[in-house]
Amino acid sequence: MSDKLRIGIIGLGFIGTQKHLVGLSQHLDRCDMVAFCDYEIDRAEKAQKEYGSDDSYACTDYRKVVDDPSIDVVHVCTWNVNHCEITCAALEAGKHVLVEKPMAVTGEDARKMVETAKRTGKKLSVGFQYRFRKEAQFLRKVVDEGRLGEIYAAKAHAIRRRGVPIWGVFTDKEKQGGGPLIDLGGHAIDQALWYMDNYEVAQVVGVVNYKLGDKPEGNMAGPWDPETYSVEDSAFGFVTFKNGASLFVEASWALNVQDSREGCVTLCGTEGGADTVQAPAGSDLIVTLNNVQGGELVKTHPEAAAAYFGAGGDAMSGFEYMGGLEAGAWLDAILDDTEPYVTAEQACVVTEILDAIYKSAENGGKPVVFD
Ligand SMILES: NC(=O)c1ccc[n+]([C@@H]2O[C@H](COP(=O)([O-])OP(=O)(O)OC[C@H]3O[C@@H](n4cnc5c(N)ncnc54)[C@H](O)[C@@H]3O)[C@@H](O)[C@H]2O)c1
Repeated sequence: MSDKLRIGIIGLGFIGTQKHLVGLSQHLDRCDMVAFCDYEIDRAEKAQKEYGSDDSYACTDYRKVVDDPSIDVVHVCTWNVNHCEITCAALEAGKHVLVEKPMAVTGEDARKMVETAKRTGKKLSVGFQYRFRKEAQFLRKVVDEGRLGEIYAAKAHAIRRRGVPIWGVFTDKEKQGGGPLIDLGGHAIDQALWYMDNYEVAQVVGVVNYKLGDKPEGNMAGPWDPETYSVEDSAFGFVTFKNGASLFVEASWALNVQDSREGCVTLCGTEGGADTVQAPAGSDLIVTLNNVQGGELVKTHPEAAAAYFGAGGDAMSGFEYMGGLEAGAWLDAILDDTEPYVTAEQACVVTEILDAIYKSAENGGKPVVFD
Protein backbone atom coordinates (compact mmCIF):
# COMPACT_ATOMS: atom_id res chain seq x y z
CA MET A 1 0.00 0.00 0.00
CA SER A 2 1.37 3.42 -0.94
CA ASP A 3 1.35 6.29 1.59
CA LYS A 4 -1.95 7.51 0.26
CA LEU A 5 -5.01 5.34 -0.17
CA ARG A 6 -5.89 4.87 -3.84
CA ILE A 7 -9.63 5.15 -4.38
CA GLY A 8 -11.99 4.12 -7.16
CA ILE A 9 -15.47 5.62 -7.32
CA ILE A 10 -18.20 3.64 -9.08
CA GLY A 11 -21.37 5.60 -9.91
CA LEU A 12 -20.95 9.32 -10.57
CA GLY A 13 -24.48 10.59 -10.44
CA PHE A 14 -25.96 12.74 -7.70
CA ILE A 15 -24.43 11.26 -4.55
CA GLY A 16 -21.16 10.17 -6.16
CA THR A 17 -20.39 13.73 -7.20
CA GLN A 18 -22.14 15.81 -4.52
CA LYS A 19 -20.94 13.83 -1.49
CA HIS A 20 -18.13 11.38 -2.31
CA LEU A 21 -15.98 13.48 -4.64
CA VAL A 22 -16.52 16.62 -2.62
CA GLY A 23 -15.97 14.75 0.66
CA LEU A 24 -12.80 12.93 -0.42
CA SER A 25 -11.37 16.10 -1.93
CA GLN A 26 -11.11 17.48 1.62
CA HIS A 27 -8.61 14.70 2.46
CA LEU A 28 -6.13 14.69 -0.40
CA ASP A 29 -3.29 14.42 2.10
CA ARG A 30 -4.42 10.85 2.70
CA CYS A 31 -6.01 9.70 -0.56
CA ASP A 32 -5.87 9.94 -4.32
CA MET A 33 -8.93 9.50 -6.53
CA VAL A 34 -7.65 7.19 -9.19
CA ALA A 35 -10.58 5.48 -10.97
CA PHE A 36 -13.89 6.98 -12.04
CA CYS A 37 -16.51 4.58 -13.34
CA ASP A 38 -20.02 5.15 -14.65
CA TYR A 39 -22.18 3.60 -17.35
CA GLU A 40 -22.24 7.12 -18.73
CA ILE A 41 -18.63 7.81 -19.72
CA ASP A 42 -19.21 11.57 -19.85
CA ARG A 43 -19.96 11.56 -16.12
CA ALA A 44 -16.82 9.54 -15.38
CA GLU A 45 -14.60 11.72 -17.54
CA LYS A 46 -15.95 14.96 -16.10
CA ALA A 47 -15.27 13.71 -12.56
CA GLN A 48 -11.79 12.50 -13.48
CA LYS A 49 -10.93 15.86 -15.02
CA GLU A 50 -11.98 17.71 -11.89
CA TYR A 51 -10.80 15.36 -9.14
CA GLY A 52 -8.47 12.72 -10.61
CA SER A 53 -4.83 12.12 -9.66
CA ASP A 54 -2.17 12.31 -12.40
CA ASP A 55 -2.43 8.60 -13.16
CA SER A 56 -6.25 8.46 -12.97
CA TYR A 57 -8.62 7.04 -15.56
CA ALA A 58 -12.31 6.93 -16.47
CA CYS A 59 -14.19 3.78 -17.47
CA THR A 60 -17.67 2.28 -17.82
CA ASP A 61 -17.10 -1.26 -16.51
CA TYR A 62 -16.87 -1.59 -12.72
CA ARG A 63 -14.78 -4.75 -13.15
CA LYS A 64 -11.88 -2.68 -14.42
CA VAL A 65 -11.82 -0.84 -11.07
CA VAL A 66 -12.33 -3.97 -9.00
CA ASP A 67 -9.59 -5.82 -10.90
CA ASP A 68 -7.10 -2.94 -10.63
CA PRO A 69 -4.45 -4.16 -8.15
CA SER A 70 -3.30 -0.59 -7.46
CA ILE A 71 -6.63 0.36 -5.91
CA ASP A 72 -7.10 0.02 -2.13
CA VAL A 73 -10.62 1.36 -1.66
CA VAL A 74 -13.83 1.37 -3.68
CA HIS A 75 -16.83 3.65 -3.16
CA VAL A 76 -20.06 2.17 -4.54
CA CYS A 77 -22.48 4.96 -5.47
CA THR A 78 -24.68 3.16 -7.97
CA TRP A 79 -28.38 2.31 -7.91
CA ASN A 80 -29.59 0.24 -4.97
CA VAL A 81 -30.09 -2.99 -6.94
CA ASN A 82 -26.41 -3.44 -7.78
CA HIS A 83 -24.87 -2.47 -4.42
CA CYS A 84 -24.47 -6.10 -3.35
CA GLU A 85 -22.90 -7.39 -6.57
CA ILE A 86 -20.33 -4.60 -6.88
CA THR A 87 -19.51 -4.50 -3.16
CA CYS A 88 -18.94 -8.25 -2.94
CA ALA A 89 -16.81 -8.24 -6.09
CA ALA A 90 -14.66 -5.42 -4.69
CA LEU A 91 -14.28 -7.09 -1.28
CA GLU A 92 -13.33 -10.39 -2.95
CA ALA A 93 -10.70 -8.48 -4.92
CA GLY A 94 -9.19 -7.22 -1.64
CA LYS A 95 -10.61 -3.67 -1.54
CA HIS A 96 -12.16 -1.84 1.40
CA VAL A 97 -15.65 -0.66 0.44
CA LEU A 98 -17.84 2.29 1.36
CA VAL A 99 -21.23 1.59 -0.20
CA GLU A 100 -24.08 4.04 -0.40
CA LYS A 101 -27.21 3.51 1.61
CA PRO A 102 -29.28 1.42 1.57
CA MET A 103 -26.63 -1.25 1.94
CA ALA A 104 -28.73 -3.57 -0.25
CA VAL A 105 -32.31 -4.13 -1.28
CA THR A 106 -32.79 -7.36 0.68
CA GLY A 107 -31.66 -8.58 4.07
CA GLU A 108 -30.22 -11.65 2.39
CA ASP A 109 -27.93 -9.52 0.19
CA ALA A 110 -26.90 -7.34 3.15
CA ARG A 111 -25.96 -10.43 5.17
CA LYS A 112 -23.94 -11.71 2.20
CA MET A 113 -22.02 -8.41 2.16
CA VAL A 114 -21.28 -8.64 5.90
CA GLU A 115 -20.14 -12.23 5.50
CA THR A 116 -17.90 -11.34 2.53
CA ALA A 117 -16.27 -8.48 4.44
CA LYS A 118 -15.62 -10.76 7.42
CA ARG A 119 -14.19 -13.55 5.30
CA THR A 120 -11.94 -11.29 3.24
CA GLY A 121 -10.86 -9.25 6.26
CA LYS A 122 -11.67 -6.01 4.43
CA LYS A 123 -13.51 -3.03 5.88
CA LEU A 124 -17.07 -2.31 4.83
CA SER A 125 -19.09 0.78 5.73
CA VAL A 126 -22.32 2.37 4.54
CA GLY A 127 -23.13 6.01 3.68
CA PHE A 128 -25.33 7.01 6.60
CA GLN A 129 -23.76 10.48 6.73
CA TYR A 130 -26.63 11.97 8.76
CA ARG A 131 -24.85 10.66 11.84
CA PHE A 132 -22.36 13.50 11.30
CA ARG A 133 -24.97 16.26 11.43
CA LYS A 134 -24.55 18.71 14.27
CA GLU A 135 -27.75 17.75 16.02
CA ALA A 136 -27.01 14.05 15.67
CA GLN A 137 -23.60 14.42 17.28
CA PHE A 138 -25.19 16.46 20.09
CA LEU A 139 -27.92 13.90 20.73
CA ARG A 140 -25.41 11.10 20.64
CA LYS A 141 -23.43 12.83 23.41
CA VAL A 142 -26.61 13.36 25.45
CA VAL A 143 -27.37 9.65 25.15
CA ASP A 144 -23.78 8.67 26.00
CA GLU A 145 -23.94 10.82 29.13
CA GLY A 146 -26.92 8.71 30.24
CA ARG A 147 -29.31 11.67 30.27
CA LEU A 148 -32.12 9.71 28.62
CA GLY A 149 -31.52 6.55 30.65
CA GLU A 150 -32.66 3.37 28.90
CA ILE A 151 -34.34 4.24 25.59
CA TYR A 152 -37.21 1.77 25.35
CA ALA A 153 -39.52 3.44 22.82
CA ALA A 154 -38.54 5.36 19.71
CA LYS A 155 -39.87 6.65 16.42
CA ALA A 156 -38.03 7.09 13.13
CA HIS A 157 -39.62 9.86 11.07
CA ALA A 158 -38.97 10.19 7.35
CA ILE A 159 -42.00 12.17 6.24
CA ARG A 160 -42.29 14.56 3.35
CA ARG A 161 -45.72 16.03 2.72
CA ARG A 162 -45.04 16.35 -1.02
CA GLY A 163 -41.37 15.72 -1.76
CA VAL A 164 -41.17 13.13 -4.52
CA PRO A 165 -37.74 13.37 -6.20
CA ILE A 166 -38.40 13.78 -9.91
CA TRP A 167 -34.77 13.40 -11.03
CA GLY A 168 -32.62 10.26 -11.22
CA VAL A 169 -34.15 6.82 -10.69
CA PHE A 170 -35.78 7.30 -7.28
CA THR A 171 -39.28 6.39 -8.49
CA ASP A 172 -38.11 3.33 -10.46
CA LYS A 173 -38.70 0.16 -8.44
CA GLU A 174 -36.53 -1.96 -10.74
CA LYS A 175 -33.42 0.13 -10.04
CA GLN A 176 -34.06 1.15 -6.42
CA GLY A 177 -36.11 -1.72 -5.00
CA GLY A 178 -38.61 0.66 -3.40
CA GLY A 179 -39.55 4.28 -2.74
CA PRO A 180 -39.52 6.55 0.32
CA LEU A 181 -39.12 3.69 2.78
CA ILE A 182 -35.87 2.35 1.31
CA ASP A 183 -34.70 5.87 0.38
CA LEU A 184 -35.48 8.12 3.36
CA GLY A 185 -36.62 5.54 5.89
CA GLY A 186 -33.20 3.96 6.18
CA HIS A 187 -31.56 7.17 7.38
CA ALA A 188 -34.14 7.66 10.16
CA ILE A 189 -34.00 4.00 11.22
CA ASP A 190 -30.21 4.12 11.29
CA GLN A 191 -30.30 7.13 13.59
CA ALA A 192 -32.86 5.64 15.97
CA LEU A 193 -31.00 2.32 16.28
CA TRP A 194 -27.71 4.14 16.76
CA TYR A 195 -29.00 6.29 19.62
CA MET A 196 -30.72 3.28 21.21
CA ASP A 197 -27.68 1.09 20.56
CA ASN A 198 -30.17 -1.65 19.88
CA TYR A 199 -29.65 -4.04 16.97
CA GLU A 200 -31.38 -7.22 18.18
CA VAL A 201 -34.70 -7.24 16.34
CA ALA A 202 -37.49 -9.59 17.50
CA GLN A 203 -40.13 -8.92 14.85
CA VAL A 204 -41.44 -6.40 12.33
CA VAL A 205 -44.87 -5.60 10.93
CA GLY A 206 -45.43 -3.22 8.03
CA VAL A 207 -47.91 -1.48 5.77
CA VAL A 208 -47.00 -0.03 2.39
CA ASN A 209 -49.28 2.35 0.48
CA TYR A 210 -49.66 2.97 -3.26
CA LYS A 211 -52.35 5.65 -2.98
CA LEU A 212 -51.05 8.93 -4.40
CA GLY A 213 -48.79 7.89 -7.30
CA ASP A 214 -51.36 9.19 -9.81
CA LYS A 215 -51.82 12.55 -8.02
CA PRO A 216 -48.62 14.49 -8.84
CA GLU A 217 -49.94 17.98 -8.16
CA GLY A 218 -48.50 20.08 -5.31
CA ASN A 219 -45.09 18.40 -5.37
CA MET A 220 -42.17 20.53 -4.11
CA ALA A 221 -39.97 19.80 -7.14
CA GLY A 222 -42.83 19.89 -9.65
CA PRO A 223 -45.15 17.11 -10.80
CA TRP A 224 -43.78 13.61 -11.23
CA ASP A 225 -44.75 11.33 -14.11
CA PRO A 226 -47.47 8.94 -12.90
CA GLU A 227 -46.67 6.62 -15.83
CA THR A 228 -43.16 5.89 -14.53
CA TYR A 229 -43.96 6.12 -10.80
CA SER A 230 -43.63 2.49 -9.70
CA VAL A 231 -42.82 2.71 -5.98
CA GLU A 232 -44.87 3.17 -2.79
CA ASP A 233 -45.79 6.69 -1.67
CA SER A 234 -45.76 5.91 2.05
CA ALA A 235 -44.92 3.08 4.42
CA PHE A 236 -45.25 2.38 8.13
CA GLY A 237 -43.60 -0.21 10.31
CA PHE A 238 -43.47 -1.36 13.88
CA VAL A 239 -40.34 -3.07 15.16
CA THR A 240 -39.98 -4.88 18.46
CA PHE A 241 -36.60 -5.76 19.92
CA LYS A 242 -35.42 -8.72 21.96
CA ASN A 243 -34.93 -6.47 25.00
CA GLY A 244 -38.57 -5.34 24.88
CA ALA A 245 -37.93 -1.94 23.26
CA SER A 246 -39.94 -0.78 20.25
CA LEU A 247 -39.53 1.45 17.20
CA PHE A 248 -42.26 3.00 15.06
CA VAL A 249 -41.19 3.82 11.50
CA GLU A 250 -42.93 6.26 9.15
CA ALA A 251 -41.71 7.13 5.67
CA SER A 252 -43.33 9.08 2.84
CA TRP A 253 -42.69 11.25 -0.15
CA ALA A 254 -46.36 12.19 -0.34
CA LEU A 255 -48.73 12.09 2.61
CA ASN A 256 -51.57 14.38 3.63
CA VAL A 257 -50.09 15.63 6.89
CA GLN A 258 -49.52 19.14 8.21
CA ASP A 259 -45.73 19.04 8.54
CA SER A 260 -42.81 17.26 6.94
CA ARG A 261 -40.48 15.58 9.41
CA GLU A 262 -37.52 14.06 7.62
CA GLY A 263 -34.44 12.53 9.17
CA CYS A 264 -35.95 13.01 12.62
CA VAL A 265 -36.35 10.81 15.68
CA THR A 266 -38.36 10.62 18.88
CA LEU A 267 -36.51 8.91 21.73
CA CYS A 268 -38.22 7.99 25.00
CA GLY A 269 -36.03 6.86 27.87
CA THR A 270 -36.35 6.15 31.57
CA GLU A 271 -34.59 9.41 32.54
CA GLY A 272 -35.76 11.66 29.74
CA GLY A 273 -36.70 11.94 26.10
CA ALA A 274 -35.55 13.78 23.03
CA ASP A 275 -37.08 14.67 19.73
CA THR A 276 -36.11 16.43 16.57
CA VAL A 277 -38.43 18.34 14.27
CA GLN A 278 -37.78 20.40 11.19
CA ALA A 279 -37.75 24.14 11.79
CA PRO A 280 -40.66 25.87 10.00
CA ALA A 281 -38.29 27.51 7.53
CA GLY A 282 -34.89 26.45 6.30
CA SER A 283 -33.27 23.14 6.90
CA ASP A 284 -32.40 23.39 10.60
CA LEU A 285 -33.60 20.76 13.02
CA ILE A 286 -34.91 21.74 16.44
CA VAL A 287 -33.76 19.36 19.15
CA THR A 288 -35.83 19.21 22.34
CA LEU A 289 -34.94 17.32 25.49
CA ASN A 290 -37.95 16.36 27.62
CA ASN A 291 -37.67 15.39 31.28
CA VAL A 292 -38.79 16.18 34.83
CA GLN A 293 -36.83 18.68 36.93
CA GLY A 294 -37.81 20.03 40.34
CA GLY A 295 -41.06 18.13 40.04
CA GLU A 296 -42.06 19.89 36.83
CA LEU A 297 -42.16 18.77 33.21
CA VAL A 298 -39.31 20.58 31.46
CA LYS A 299 -38.40 21.05 27.80
CA THR A 300 -34.90 22.28 26.93
CA HIS A 301 -33.17 23.23 23.67
CA PRO A 302 -29.51 23.91 23.00
CA GLU A 303 -29.09 27.68 22.99
CA ALA A 304 -27.66 27.66 19.48
CA ALA A 305 -30.07 25.93 17.10
CA ALA A 306 -28.34 22.86 15.75
CA ALA A 307 -28.06 23.33 12.02
CA TYR A 308 -29.47 20.43 10.07
CA PHE A 309 -26.27 19.89 8.19
CA GLY A 310 -23.31 21.90 9.36
CA ALA A 311 -22.33 24.86 11.40
CA GLY A 312 -25.08 27.46 11.05
CA GLY A 313 -24.31 30.08 8.48
CA ASP A 314 -21.12 28.56 7.12
CA ALA A 315 -20.64 28.41 3.40
CA MET A 316 -20.59 24.63 3.05
CA SER A 317 -23.48 22.72 1.57
CA GLY A 318 -24.86 19.90 3.63
CA PHE A 319 -23.28 17.17 1.56
CA GLU A 320 -19.95 18.98 1.49
CA TYR A 321 -19.99 19.23 5.29
CA MET A 322 -21.26 15.72 6.05
CA GLY A 323 -19.33 14.19 3.15
CA GLY A 324 -16.07 15.64 4.45
CA LEU A 325 -16.64 14.23 7.93
CA GLU A 326 -17.82 10.87 6.59
CA ALA A 327 -14.83 10.53 4.25
CA GLY A 328 -12.41 11.59 7.02
CA ALA A 329 -13.77 9.02 9.49
CA TRP A 330 -13.71 6.32 6.79
CA LEU A 331 -10.09 6.99 5.80
CA ASP A 332 -9.12 7.05 9.50
CA ALA A 333 -10.72 3.66 10.05
CA ILE A 334 -8.74 2.15 7.18
CA LEU A 335 -5.41 3.81 7.97
CA ASP A 336 -5.66 3.24 11.75
CA ASP A 337 -7.22 -0.22 11.32
CA THR A 338 -10.19 0.60 13.54
CA GLU A 339 -13.90 -0.12 13.20
CA PRO A 340 -15.72 2.15 10.71
CA TYR A 341 -18.02 4.79 12.23
CA VAL A 342 -20.97 3.04 10.57
CA THR A 343 -20.38 -0.69 10.84
CA ALA A 344 -21.56 -3.15 8.22
CA GLU A 345 -23.40 -5.10 10.92
CA GLN A 346 -25.38 -2.02 11.99
CA ALA A 347 -26.31 -1.10 8.41
CA CYS A 348 -27.29 -4.71 7.75
CA VAL A 349 -29.93 -4.53 10.50
CA VAL A 350 -31.35 -1.36 8.93
CA THR A 351 -31.75 -3.17 5.60
CA GLU A 352 -33.23 -6.22 7.33
CA ILE A 353 -35.88 -3.97 8.92
CA LEU A 354 -36.66 -2.20 5.61
CA ASP A 355 -36.93 -5.54 3.84
CA ALA A 356 -39.13 -6.94 6.63
CA ILE A 357 -41.54 -3.96 6.41
CA TYR A 358 -41.94 -4.59 2.66
CA LYS A 359 -42.30 -8.36 3.18
CA SER A 360 -44.82 -7.97 6.01
CA ALA A 361 -46.86 -5.57 3.84
CA GLU A 362 -46.81 -8.08 0.96
CA ASN A 363 -48.19 -10.67 3.37
CA GLY A 364 -51.12 -8.59 4.56
CA GLY A 365 -49.27 -7.20 7.59
CA LYS A 366 -48.18 -10.58 9.03
CA PRO A 367 -45.15 -10.18 11.34
CA VAL A 368 -41.71 -11.08 10.08
CA VAL A 369 -40.01 -12.88 12.95
CA PHE A 370 -36.21 -12.60 13.29
CA ASP A 371 -34.11 -15.57 14.46
N1 LIG B 1 -26.52 9.10 1.49
C1 LIG B 1 -27.52 9.82 1.00
O1 LIG B 1 -28.09 10.71 1.64
C2 LIG B 1 -27.97 9.55 -0.41
C3 LIG B 1 -28.60 10.55 -1.16
C4 LIG B 1 -28.96 10.24 -2.49
C5 LIG B 1 -28.71 8.98 -3.01
N2 LIG B 1 -28.12 8.02 -2.22
C6 LIG B 1 -27.87 6.67 -2.72
O2 LIG B 1 -26.85 6.73 -3.71
C7 LIG B 1 -27.07 5.77 -4.74
C8 LIG B 1 -27.08 6.48 -6.07
O3 LIG B 1 -28.11 7.44 -6.06
P1 LIG B 1 -28.01 8.76 -6.97
O4 LIG B 1 -29.09 9.65 -6.54
O5 LIG B 1 -26.62 9.24 -7.00
O6 LIG B 1 -28.37 8.10 -8.41
P2 LIG B 1 -27.94 8.63 -9.83
O7 LIG B 1 -28.83 7.92 -10.82
O8 LIG B 1 -27.87 10.12 -9.85
O9 LIG B 1 -26.44 8.09 -9.98
C9 LIG B 1 -26.12 6.73 -10.05
C10 LIG B 1 -25.06 6.58 -11.12
O10 LIG B 1 -24.59 5.23 -11.11
C11 LIG B 1 -24.39 4.79 -12.45
N3 LIG B 1 -24.46 3.34 -12.43
C12 LIG B 1 -25.49 2.58 -12.01
N4 LIG B 1 -25.14 1.28 -12.04
C13 LIG B 1 -23.85 1.23 -12.50
C14 LIG B 1 -22.93 0.17 -12.75
N5 LIG B 1 -23.25 -1.11 -12.52
N6 LIG B 1 -21.73 0.49 -13.25
C15 LIG B 1 -21.39 1.79 -13.49
N7 LIG B 1 -22.22 2.83 -13.25
C16 LIG B 1 -23.43 2.54 -12.76
C17 LIG B 1 -25.50 5.49 -13.23
O11 LIG B 1 -25.18 5.59 -14.61
C18 LIG B 1 -25.58 6.84 -12.54
O12 LIG B 1 -24.76 7.82 -13.16
C19 LIG B 1 -28.41 5.09 -4.39
O13 LIG B 1 -28.15 3.89 -3.73
C20 LIG B 1 -29.08 6.08 -3.44
O14 LIG B 1 -29.93 5.45 -2.50
C21 LIG B 1 -27.72 8.29 -0.96
